[in-house]
Parts: sequence; structure tokens; C-alpha cells
Amino acid sequence: MNLKDKVCIITGAARGIGEGIARRYIADGAKVAIADLRLADAEATANELTKAGPGKAIGVEMNVTDERQVNAGVQKVVDTWGAVDVLVSNAGIQIVHEIENFPFPEWKKLLAIHLDGGFLTSKACIPHMYKRGSGAIIFMGSVHSKEASPLKSAYVTAKHGLLGLARVISKEGAEHGVRANVICPGFVRTPLVAKQIPEQAAELGISEKEVVEKIMLGETVDKEFTTIEDVAEIAWVFAAFPTNALTGQSLVVSHGWYMD
Ligand SMILES: NC(=O)c1ccc[n+]([C@@H]2O[C@H](COP(=O)([O-])OP(=O)(O)OC[C@H]3O[C@@H](n4cnc5c(N)ncnc54)[C@H](O)[C@@H]3O)[C@@H](O)[C@H]2O)c1
Repeated sequence: MNLKDKVCIITGAARGIGEGIARRYIADGAKVAIADLRLADAEATANELTKAGPGKAIGVEMNVTDERQVNAGVQKVVDTWGAVDVLVSNAGIQIVHEIENFPFPEWKKLLAIHLDGGFLTSKACIPHMYKRGSGAIIFMGSVHSKEASPLKSAYVTAKHGLLGLARVISKEGAEHGVRANVICPGFVRTPLVAKQIPEQAAELGISEKEVVEKIMLGETVDKEFTTIEDVAEIAWVFAAFPTNALTGQSLVVSHGWYMD
């Protein structure tokens, strides 16, 4: 199994987990579109990863909640490299509030990025995959696709929803060789998580150290963060696996925080 010359689109890949997945794919010879909100950020990451090689990257401007930008971004990739083999729908945000204080616009914003984003990018890539008779779609879920935490109603709802979307795509895509799977990481120390530590400390009235040791890592087997590289390795398996034997699945990578 390898990704040499496979054309991959990764959303939210200018930094964090998405960037790590792009790095892993490029190390295996893939051609990767770094799709993110700001073209300058996407291109800076693409240039850095291309230098590392042996694969290569381009930057694509894409707000995953904007159908026109999603379609234009996918078309840019097809115009550049002639195909789409792999989609990693990874772009995501976190917003924490108690449910009774959760501003409705923030609820809708979060659901749009995770769920509309997953839907729109899949919808845009699937026709290109069906044409070739193969493709892999990977959604970035979370332990919160399976487990709930206080303050995270929108995020938990969205991440559970992605399991449903992946399962439907698995059934519709099977006859076209298109697979869909979900990665469910525990806490990974990216900007998304760094931002939550002081926010949760304030909301819960505890110290930042307690947020990390009790809330984030309290249920793991070894009090360790999951790493970007851990998640990227699973993303590589889901992308490179060649048959429908591995479809409609979700894999938790969380230091045992959640055990299926
Ligand atoms: N960090 C964790 O602990 C963790 C755990 C489980 C799941 N996840 C999931 O992994 C994914 C990536 O998270 P991360 O920690 O790398 O976050 P991050 O904040 O470091 O990076 C997120 C990236 O997504 C981009 N983005 C945000 N909104 C976008 C939009 N509308 N369109 C396109 N791009 C957009 C940002 O510009 C950024 O580059 C998210 O879906 C997140 O929910 C993260």
C-alpha cells in the first residue's frame, strides 16, 4: 500500500492535524492540496511541505462552508492534477459554552464547518472519484464522535453526525470503489486545544493544570496526549487501504481514553 502520485485534498491543512496528515502523505509521494481559509497560509504550508518531498503540495483557498469556494477549490485540484483520489475532511473549530448560554449563531457556525464542510467537500469530490472507480474519504471525527463532555454540545453533536455521513457514503460509494471512514482522536496539543485550556479553566473555575490532567487526560491509560503523528498514521492507512473491506469504520486513537 502506498500513496505515490495519489491526488489528495486535505481541508484545514495549513496547520495542526491537517498539516501533519499532509506531511505524512507527501513523505509517501502523494500530491496534496492544502485547502484552508487563507490562501497565503495554505501556500506557505504547501511550499514548506514540497521542500520536504518526495511528493508535492499546492495551496487552495477554501472556506468549507461556502459551496462555491469548495467547488472552485476541487476544480482547481482537478485542473492541476487531473483527479481526486483522497479527501480528508479535517477543517474544524471548537466552541465551549454551557448549553443554556450557547449563542445560537455559534452553534450554527460550528455545525456548518464540521457538517456542511464534510457534506460539501464530499459532494464535490465524489463525482471525480466515481469516474475513476475508486476513492477514499476520511472524516476527522473525535472521541467526541462516541463520548460526550460538558460544554461541548455543538462539537459533540457535529462529531457524532460525521459517523452517519461516513456510513451513508460507504453504502452509496461501494459500487464505485469509494470508501469512507472516520478517525476519532483524543486530545492532540494543537492551537485548537491550546485555546480551550484557559477557556475551560475559566468556565469550570479550576486551574489550567487541572484542565489538562483531569479533564483532557484524566481518562487515558497513561496521561499522554495523542500526537499529530499518531493521527496522521491512521489517516495514511485509511487513505492507502485498497479495497471496500475497510469502509464505514471509525477508529479511536486516544491513549485508551475511549475504548470501543
Ligand atoms: N486537537 C485535538 O485535540 C483534536 C481532537 C480530535 C479531533 N480534532 C479535530 O481535528 C481537526 C483539526 O483540528 P486541529 O486541532 O488541527 O485544529 P487547528 O485549529 O490547529 O487547525 C484547524 C485548521 O482548520 C482551518 N479552518 C477552520 N475553519 C475552516 C473553514 N471554515 N474552512 C477551511 N478551513 C478551516 C483553520 O484555518 C486551521 O488551519 C478538527 O476537525 C478537530 O475537531 C482535534
